[in-house]
Amino acid sequence: MTNPKVFINPKSGSIRITGTVDMVDADGNLIETRENPKFCGCGQSKEKPLCDGSHKGLLEK
Ligand code: FES
Repeated sequence: MTNPKVFINPKSGSIRITGTVDMVDADGNLIETRENPKFCGCGQSKEKPLCDGSHKGLLEK
């Protein structure tokens, strides 16, 4: 088993994690498990905490 890796895109702010990730609430309760999730770091996603690609509009300005 390899350790998950985190890639942060310095232009878009998106944060992609390779591997299996357990998403938990503030109490540590499992919400869901995802493979290779991509999180929003730009604040524009309508599906937070996940990236929905809305950052592309910011890059075009
Ligand atoms: S990083 Fe925010 S929508 Fe992609």
